[in-house]
Amino acid sequence: MRLIRAKDYQDMSRKAANIISAQVILKPESVLGLATGSTPIGIYHQLIDWYKKGDVDFSRVVSINLDEYCGLSDSNPQSYSRFMREHFFDYINISPANIFLPDGTQTDSALECARYDRVIVEHGGIDLQLLGIGRNAHIGFNEPDVCFSRGTHQVTLTESTIAANTRFFESVEQVPRQAYSVGMQAIMQAKKILLIASGADKAEALQKSFFGPVTPQVPASILQLHQDVTVIADMDALALCPAE
Ligand code: F6R
Repeated sequence: MRLIRAKDYQDMSRKAANIISAQVILKPESVLGLATGSTPIGIYHQLIDWYKKGDVDFSRVVSINLDEYCGLSDSNPQSYSRFMREHFFDYINISPANIFLPDGTQTDSALECARYDRVIVEHGGIDLQLLGIGRNAHIGFNEPDVCFSRGTHQVTLTESTIAANTRFFESVEQVPRQAYSVGMQAIMQAKKILLIASGADKAEALQKSFFGPVTPQVPASILQLHQDVTVIADMDALALCPAE
């Protein structure tokens, strides 16, 4: 694991955007595994800026997002599909045909999970997987459990994740209780992983994930077994990690 210490959120965002932009410049047809949430917003805004300046071209990029809430259609303001359009896709030249997210309206979960796994395989897997990290160390919506997940699956969100995500909804009752999430297999088979973390509320998750035992109770700890992981975290998120 390569640990890059960023000064603050803005520094973290620029450093991570540099890595994604280099990936796309080196391989214009890259398959990017993208994430939602507060942490990547600065990265997306930076990439939009570089796109507008002509520095990076997304026309051949494929995006396969990590997750989507069950029960929300892509027009729902709280859906991850809408989030990605509002924060990124609407401002770059990615082809709509190259954008993939789980379909939250699909009630047959076995069918939807199998379809999404096929999408990943048919595109040859993920070149660069961008990951945020939950306060309980979830990645995607792979929550703490007794074993690591394998393929795309339907998840029942933990109380901690529901509480953390309430900020995007009008009330806690509105937060969907279930989501579709890419499993650990596709994440671990990604050629490169870029995990970003910002803020003191991620410090414990970061410390346990990268400096504690590998255990499904700390989902991100599985990344210790991946051969090409870059973690970019700001000083607050690094507060509990060993210095150097
Ligand atoms: C989002 C996702 C989640 C988030 C995590 C951190 O697609 O997969 O694992 O990355 O919940 O969210 P933020 O960045 O809002 O703290």
